[in-house]
Amino acid sequence: MTLRLAVIGAGLMGADHAKIVAEDLPGASLQVVCDMDAGRAKAVADRFGAADVANSPEAVIARADVDAVIVASPDFTHAPLSMACIKAGKRVLCEKPLSQSSAECLQVMDEEMLCGERFVQLGFMRRYDQSYMEMRQALRDGALGRALMMHNFHRNVETPASDFTGAMAITNSAPHEFDVVRLVLDTEYRAISAHQPKRSDSRVAPVVMVLETQDDQLVTIEINNNAAYGYDVRAELVGEAGSLAMNHVAYTRLDAKLSSATAYEPDWRGRYHEAYVRQNRAFLRFVETGQFPEIASSCWDGYCAAVVAEAGVLALESGQKTLVEMISKPEFYA
Ligand SMILES: NC(=O)c1ccc[n+]([C@@H]2O[C@H](COP(=O)([O-])OP(=O)(O)OC[C@H]3O[C@@H](n4cnc5c(N)ncnc54)[C@H](O)[C@@H]3O)[C@@H](O)[C@H]2O)c1
Repeated sequence: MTLRLAVIGAGLMGADHAKIVAEDLPGASLQVVCDMDAGRAKAVADRFGAADVANSPEAVIARADVDAVIVASPDFTHAPLSMACIKAGKRVLCEKPLSQSSAECLQVMDEEMLCGERFVQLGFMRRYDQSYMEMRQALRDGALGRALMMHNFHRNVETPASDFTGAMAITNSAPHEFDVVRLVLDTEYRAISAHQPKRSDSRVAPVVMVLETQDDQLVTIEINNNAAYGYDVRAELVGEAGSLAMNHVAYTRLDAKLSSATAYEPDWRGRYHEAYVRQNRAFLRFVETGQFPEIASSCWDGYCAAVVAEAGVLALESGQKTLVEMISKPEFYA
């Protein structure tokens, strides 16, 4: 049976999701592309052969010819649209973050728990990236001994808006690291501190965070939204018996004029294409079977990322180490 998917939001991410549904998801078809901008919806629908276009997300979620939904509209729409999907009994792959407010994440969790079934998978796609998977596996196999530290670097060429702030680096960019490190280390955070060096211009400076985990490990995260040279994500997991570092991912290397060079991607889409495809295939299996995928990100994970981000913003503003205080994990998300 072919599952009919709707994509809500036809911007950068929505177009990529529509492409994956159309080209890389055997067993799925692109039923509707929905955007409040009718021109965008039509352009993406035409490009990837969607059966229909729409401009009301709520109406799309309610449609009988839509089996499941991908939400790729702006952050503030994620929690309300996820709740609408839960109420309609439809599984949803919702882009990250579930919400920038941990209180709103709790509302979505409550709605899901009320239904007694899992409906929401979050788009923290790095969980499906091969390098993080290998780090997680190396720890589980005992290849590194006990984990001590995980260092992370997340660099973008330049900020999307001139009013981008250090707090936004923590709430918009760092949640990817907050989430995937929790998966790799299989622990939660206890405290966070955040610092910024000074730039010589008005662009937002990097934010450097140090997090303590509940298992007494240290996690460092550098978010540099104006790194200038390329999109560059690095990580190194340091254990008592060894360390595992992520390689720069490039298919080719140019050797010429007495030097050797590999290229950087301009943004995240090429670097994580494979992870998005794996993630979306896992979502399709979730829709087919009702079984929540083992490593996928849930509403609970969305809540955890929001709590850490909130503590990180407080830490940056106050210059003080700030406790990360979460509710106990509900049995429903065990
Ligand atoms: N997983 C990742 O790696 C990743 C990367 C980038 C962005 N994101 C997330 O994806 C989401 C979309 O980001 P983007 O870069 O594609 O943004 P974008 O601005 O390019 O696209 C958003 C689209 O949503 C539409 N839209 C706005 N409100 C809407 C509504 N109520 N209903 C329907 N459509 C609506 C806009 O018209 C626009 O076309 C954001 O929440 C962002 O955080 C995730």
